[in-house]
This record gives sequence, structure tokens and C-alpha cells, in this order.
Amino acid sequence: IWVSEIMLQQTQVSTVIPYYHRFVSRFPALADLAAASVDDVLHVWSGLGYYARARNLHRAAVMVHEQYGGQFPSDIEVLMALPGIGRSTAGAILAFSRGQRHPILDGNVKRVLARHFMVAGDPASAAVNRGLWALADHLTPTRAVERYTQAIMDLGASVCDRRRPDCPACPLAHSCLANRNGDPLDFPQRKPKRKRPRRETGMLILEDQAGRILLEKRGPSGIWGGLWSLPEATPWNEPPTCPLPGATMQSAPGANPPPVRHGFTHFELLIQPYRYRIVDPGGGVMDDNTHIWYNPKEPQPVGLPAVIKRLLNSIQH
Ligand code: ADE
Repeated sequence: IWVSEIMLQQTQVSTVIPYYHRFVSRFPALADLAAASVDDVLHVWSGLGYYARARNLHRAAVMVHEQYGGQFPSDIEVLMALPGIGRSTAGAILAFSRGQRHPILDGNVKRVLARHFMVAGDPASAAVNRGLWALADHLTPTRAVERYTQAIMDLGASVCDRRRPDCPACPLAHSCLANRNGDPLDFPQRKPKRKRPRRETGMLILEDQAGRILLEKRGPSGIWGGLWSLPEATPWNEPPTCPLPGATMQSAPGANPPPVRHGFTHFELLIQPYRYRIVDPGGGVMDDNTHIWYNPKEPQPVGLPAVIKRLLNSIQH
């Protein structure tokens, strides 16, 4: 039950089944799991995704083996102290395995409750989350707790679908407030995700007299650490400083290319390219290995971020 609840945390039942069988035939007892290497566990888990679950499962097996003499804990607080087991998973494990009465509240159950009782507010907020736990606790029966627990989980995983709830097939259709009085799709009332912050930078497309473009190697840390890029320039603030000491540059004829956008996980980058050309190399030699002249007629060097490749490709020659 512990293994299946961990597998089911982020994966549908139908996907989990073959992995579950494979896993328990390879590690039939807690002691087998505790004795295995984490690489073995990850190997048997491979394909199921969210690998932190497998690492935590293995760590928890070792802890139970060493600290509790191989006896799986039956106290909810002790269970919740094991890696990878939150309050809802701990409650489900103890309801199914020992018939203990504990409320559960995974993502699916939150949705069922928010719709059935038209719970206002974002469940991600502490206050709404507390209210949902209180509701879950109130609804959890003393008898046949495992039947209730499995039923509400299955409801959330099947008919009470996030995008396409099948209300006519739902056994709770008549008591569900959102179905009777509103639109189930309006619940839970999640706040729209905040948009990623936008950062702006300028990039210098600097051509030498032979039509080659200057590339600069970025420092080891930060975005694109260690990759080749164009020299950065303060955006909307011309003229940029010439990155080559002693050389003189001038803005190239014609308009600058339009800005390009690039999405990172935590922010969006808007890059304004500036086209300049060297009018006097100033006799300066580039004796560092952080700059190269790139001939656009030749293949691009490896280690260029995709957006820089796009930028270079967009320049008409
Ligand atoms: N998700 C987590 N636990 C589950 C269970 N026991 N049945 C269906 N979906 C689940």
C-alpha cells in the first residue's frame, strides 16, 4: 500500500499498475528495498518519472529498517516524518492498511470538495487549505474508512475530472452545489499563475571589416554559463561600449533588428540587438580566449544558446 500510494501521488492508476507489479516482484519485502542500492531502485522505477519519489521511498525503507526494526510505523506523526510522505499520503496508507481514521486531501480530493461545497478562494492559500482539511476531517467516517477514502480518491481521479467533469455520471450530482447552482469548472478557484517577470538586455552584433561577428564566452555561472553568446549591452542606451580595447566601432547602416523574446523557467528575457561595425581595429589583438570572430558563412560554433542562434540566423547578409 505504501509503494502504491507513492506511485499514485503523481501518476494515474492505469499507468502505475505494470510498474507496481514490477516493483513488488523485484522488492517483495521492505528488507529487500532497504538492502538495494538507490541505483537499483531508480532502475526499476525508470519510466514512471518524478524520481525523487523513488529516492525517498528507498531512504524511507532504510530508515524503517534501521530505526524501527523493519516494522512499518502505524503512528501518523511517525509516518509523516519519513521522506516523501505528507499528511494526505500518511492518512491514506493508514486508512487502507490499518483501518485508522484519518482525513486525506490530495489534489483530486481538493477539487471534489471545492466543487461539492462551492468552496470559495484559492486552495493554495493557507486559509482555504485549512478550511478544506477541516471539511475533509468532518466528512471522514469512523467506520469503513478505507471504502470512503478510496471512493473519494476515485471520484476525483475519474468523473470529477479537472477539465471535463462527467456530472451526469456522478453519484454526488444531486448534492453537489457547483453542479446544482453553478459551474463545476469554476472550482477550485485557483488564482491565475503570475506572469513571469520580464528582464531586458541589449546584445551587440559587432561585425569586423571581413563581415565576421564577435562572439563572447560567458562567465561560468548564471544563465548560459560557459556558453558562447553576443556581448551584452545596456538596453535602450546607445552607444554601447566597444568590447575590444583600442578598437573603434560605429553603428551599422539601417535599422537594428527587432527585439527577440526568450522564455526561461523563472523569467522572460527580451533582447534588443544592436548592429555595429568595426571601423578601426586599433591594432589591438585578441589574446584572450573569451572572444572569437565568427564567420556567418560557416557553421555556427557549438555551445550557442538557441535564442542566439536564432538571432544570428535572422541577420540578412
Ligand atoms: N491517488 C493516490 N492514491 C490513490 C488511490 N488509492 N486510488 C486512486 N488514486 C489515488
